[in-house]
Amino acid sequence: MGAEVVIEGLTKSFGKQAIWRDVTLTLPPGEVSVMLGPSGTGKSVFLKSMIGLLKPDRGKCVINGVDIVKCSEHKLYEIRKLFGVLFQDGALFGSMNLYDNVAFPLREHTKKSETEIRKIVLEKLEMTGLSGTEKKLPGEISGGMRKRAGLARALVLDPEIILCDEPDSGLDPVRTAYISQLLVDLNSQIDATILIVTHNINVARTVPDNIGMLYRKELVMFGPREVLLTSDEPAVEQFLNGSRLGPIGMSEEKDSAQMAREQAHVDAGHHDGSTEDMRGIVPQLQPTPGLPERKAVRRRKDRVMQILHTLPPAAQEAILQSLTPEDRLRYGVQPGHYVGAHRGQLPTEAVAQVPRSGWRDPQPRVDDPTRRRPGHQQGRS
Ligand SMILES: Nc1ncnc2c1ncn2[C@@H]1O[C@H](COP(=O)(O)OP(=O)(O)O)[C@@H](O)[C@H]1O
Ligand SMILES: [Mg+2]
Repeated sequence: MGAEVVIEGLTKSFGKQAIWRDVTLTLPPGEVSVMLGPSGTGKSVFLKSMIGLLKPDRGKCVINGVDIVKCSEHKLYEIRKLFGVLFQDGALFGSMNLYDNVAFPLREHTKKSETEIRKIVLEKLEMTGLSGTEKKLPGEISGGMRKRAGLARALVLDPEIILCDEPDSGLDPVRTAYISQLLVDLNSQIDATILIVTHNINVARTVPDNIGMLYRKELVMFGPREVLLTSDEPAVEQFLNGSRLGPIGMSEEKDSAQMAREQAHVDAGHHDGSTEDMRGIVPQLQPTPGLPERKAVRRRKDRVMQILHTLPPAAQEAILQSLTPEDRLRYGVQPGHYVGAHRGQLPTEAVAQVPRSGWRDPQPRVDDPTRRRPGHQQGRS
């Protein structure tokens, strides 16, 4: 299973320019997460901070018990081997063919023989749908194929954590749908922790288990996909709908006078820029038939049901709606019954309690969610 990444109070600035502050979130092991945010909010900076390419001003980023913000160069070098990174442009070497590009990390970081390397490279090229393209140069293939090649290269060291910076950028909607499916398929095959940073709403709506959003130099929210997708936070709603109406402006946030002007235009019948009403939840992509089920699905359900009572009512309902009849039995819940102690608008009597112990599950539980994972404790220290 992929590694857990625990980020606490991470803050980054360049000189006087603050990029983001106090970012706190945990990437659950083996799950897929998306970080959304308007252009220039520091998504790429965030990703580079996670692998120690940029140094945050303060805060922690703990992986396998090591805080990469403070650790030694040597430790950082070791921890980096857990990562596979797909940079925004694929970052391929233009003069090397795809085979050599994908083989590069193996030749650089391992003592494997060329025979072993060949086996791995061909396997990763096949996983990313690039069989038969070994001899092509990056300049001879399409943007979508370059992304796939970048991903193949990110996979050769068997990463526990995969970071993708805008895997959809420069791709048409069809190629974007293919890369989305590929990321889900990879997760089903290798169970790695995946973080995708993007401003693509379709990717955010269909791929991840968890979604966060960076906006106004802060993490607006991070949590199960249902939370952001049902959120009525103005910036989140505006972003999900790709509308000009809302607090996000052309460069940074806008002032109230401009917001009022734009609202008046729209009230007078002028189009707000969005194409359709994108609110609500669409089903998550599933692995291509024939591939294994994602192990993250069960783990995530157990995890989300543990924190259900802390989520807003709309998210709780969406999660309960998504449960199968077997799940409902397992967790002892019914849709329409809310779980206690939420901070939403529902009266407390409309809130049901999930039993704290003794889920109605006839099977002995291997992955008891009430038990702390080994490493979890370390990670928080
Ligand atoms: N190495 C750097 N030195 C100084 N400023 C930087 C550096 N990298 C990024 N920035 C600034 O940080 C801000 C966020 O950039 P970036 O992370 O690329 O945004 P995003 O990926 O969300 O579009 C931008 O204003 C950018 O100019
Ligand atoms: Mg970027």
